[in-house]
Amino acid sequence: MIETHLHTDILEIVLQNPPVNALGSDLRGALFGVIAAAQTNPDVKAIVLRGAGKLFSGGADIKEFGKLQAEQGLPELVDTIEASAKPVVAAIHGTALGGGLEIALGCHYRIATADARLGLPEVTLGILPGAGGTQRLPRLIGVEAALEMIVLGNPVSATRALETGLVDRLSENQSSLASDAIDFARTLNGPRRTSELSASAPAGVFEQFQATNARKIGKLDAPRACIEAVKAATELPIKEGLAKERDLFVKLLGGDQSKALRHVFFAERAAAKIDGLPKDIQLRPIGRVGVIGAGTMGGGISMNFLSAGIPVTIVEMQQDALDRGVATMRKNYDATAAKGRLTGEQVEQALGLLDPTLDFDALADCDLVIEAVYENMDVKKDIFSRLDTIAKPGAMLASNTSYLSIDEIAAVTRRPQDVLGLHFFSPANVMKLVEVVRGEKTAPDVLATGMALARKIGKVPVVSGVCYGFIGNRMLIPRQEQATALVLEGATPEDVDRVHTEFGMPMGPFQMADLAGVDIGWHRDPERIESLRDALCAQKRWGQKTGAGFYDYDERRKPSSSPVVAEIIEDFRQKEGIVPRTISDEEIITRTLYTMVNEGAKILDEAIAQRASDIDVIWNYGYGWPRHKGGPMFWAELVGLAHIVDALEQSRAQLGEAFTLSPLLKRCAAEGISFDEGARQ
Ligand code: 3HC
Repeated sequence: MIETHLHTDILEIVLQNPPVNALGSDLRGALFGVIAAAQTNPDVKAIVLRGAGKLFSGGADIKEFGKLQAEQGLPELVDTIEASAKPVVAAIHGTALGGGLEIALGCHYRIATADARLGLPEVTLGILPGAGGTQRLPRLIGVEAALEMIVLGNPVSATRALETGLVDRLSENQSSLASDAIDFARTLNGPRRTSELSASAPAGVFEQFQATNARKIGKLDAPRACIEAVKAATELPIKEGLAKERDLFVKLLGGDQSKALRHVFFAERAAAKIDGLPKDIQLRPIGRVGVIGAGTMGGGISMNFLSAGIPVTIVEMQQDALDRGVATMRKNYDATAAKGRLTGEQVEQALGLLDPTLDFDALADCDLVIEAVYENMDVKKDIFSRLDTIAKPGAMLASNTSYLSIDEIAAVTRRPQDVLGLHFFSPANVMKLVEVVRGEKTAPDVLATGMALARKIGKVPVVSGVCYGFIGNRMLIPRQEQATALVLEGATPEDVDRVHTEFGMPMGPFQMADLAGVDIGWHRDPERIESLRDALCAQKRWGQKTGAGFYDYDERRKPSSSPVVAEIIEDFRQKEGIVPRTISDEEIITRTLYTMVNEGAKILDEAIAQRASDIDVIWNYGYGWPRHKGGPMFWAELVGLAHIVDALEQSRAQLGEAFTLSPLLKRCAAEGISFDEGARQ
């Protein structure tokens, strides 16, 4: 867990707990021991504490959370380090995060490599720095800088840390760090304790910070508690401030928001793992990517690769479509540059890697080709059989389809093992999610390469099996069906959307339909009106793009309730003989969100998703499910699967003939087990 070296009069302690030197109970125990021993060792004049491997420390061991007993000890350890009679220097490289930085704050001096990053990201896990961070940091660097780090959770660079006084000096790199720290320690006369400083707050600083960050703070408990704790640092003596911090920490740790956010942390990392693949699988080299289609999706997809320095050949059928596509990419890049997120040079560099062409044969050079044309199986089959004759051996062939069968597409090629789905979400240059679709015959190295490449371009990839709509969109189907049925039975689109936005979704089903286009998948016959959607489409209410959908839109796309839609709904009710009734928010939740959970359970049962948490990651990154509610499957377990089954059973009459409860959901509810436990049985 730790290694120690005595360099004449300086004791060097090296944390060794790969991969991130998390401060679990064993490591803490070892540190208590060695710090105590150093106090009575006459040979030791000062102590240097550093981390082995890639970083100083990633903080407390998050896996120990929930076992409160196990996680106690970190605050005491920091206090013990600070109480040391011999000066202690933290030598930081890589990152010092959370409890890792709090340990460094307990040390009397800090030295960091120039590329190190220091932060207190606890708030992103729904907690606050619980080992003195909220009390020591404002004392050391001032309230305003501390609020930024603690409440927003953003790490700072070593240079910024030097400016604010968080570190005392910099060392060039990891190789020079240990010896610089030892030399520095030798110059020190005695300890210098941060807790002995005082933190004062300029008038109104907390109120102003809260107001400026109101949107980010929203309904979250942790940022509020962080502010309260930092305020305590300015009002209370250290001991009482630390007690207040502990109090707030324990409350947050036991709350649902923190449980959900910690779930999301591990879910994201689990999603990167593909069941049944050897860890050392050889990836296919991807030097150039081909994209077929320069529309919104094709352009957005290309930008991801260009931004990551990977050349792209983009193919279109018509020159004007190609020109339009390239112009849109430039416009998007320029907009990013205007916001200061890219330099003009970076924009030119990215676009310099783009090769637009009308020549399909140019794809022969590419190691991966992604088809991004509209959703039509015949068109896709045609493209893939042409690709099969052109693409070089070993090239990966991907479709960006949102719904269609990758197996059917792969079957038209002589190399189905090289075919996979790469389902990007719109706008593809912004949205982080990619469903990496594993066809029946997709080779393991193709899947692994698809996942690795998606990560390389900054995406969050999740594996999905083949089914209509894959994981995310398939779950949208019952939600939309029920949302529409609810409206016919008596709710308004506004009611349904409000329940979703109050829940924390960025938009409700009808707002989403208006944004995406109400006409997507419409049969385009204005005379054939079989659904509410048909009625809207027949009146060219195609959503935001036509200024009218389920809502009316003004020139600035501001929505308002539509009397026309209310009339269309009323006509429909009369035609169907429906007498509208009052629909409660609870019923809207049951019939839209619980039905989605039910579909998720079916997806898990069919092994389309590898694990329940993968479904959660898809909803976090593809559809804006609020992270502090974990994801639909985690949330369902929190609500109680038995409660969900009961509510769905009770709504059975309204859910319609076609509705079936997932056997997995029923079994998990009956046995009181989690989705994953149920799926493993
Ligand atoms: N506790 C337990 N496990 C951790 C961990 C932690 N603090 N940090 C990372 N891990 C695990 C990950 O789950 C992953 O496990 P896996 O291989 O089994 O999936 C493994 O370590 C490697 O993690 P990453 O894939 O994230 O590695 P990277 O190199 O990409 O990133 C990192 C390293 C920047 C340290 C990143 O892991 C990270 O951000 N970790 C969390 C940092 C954090 O939030 N710290 C605060 C903890 S709470 C705290 O300290 C409370 C205190 O105030 C009382």
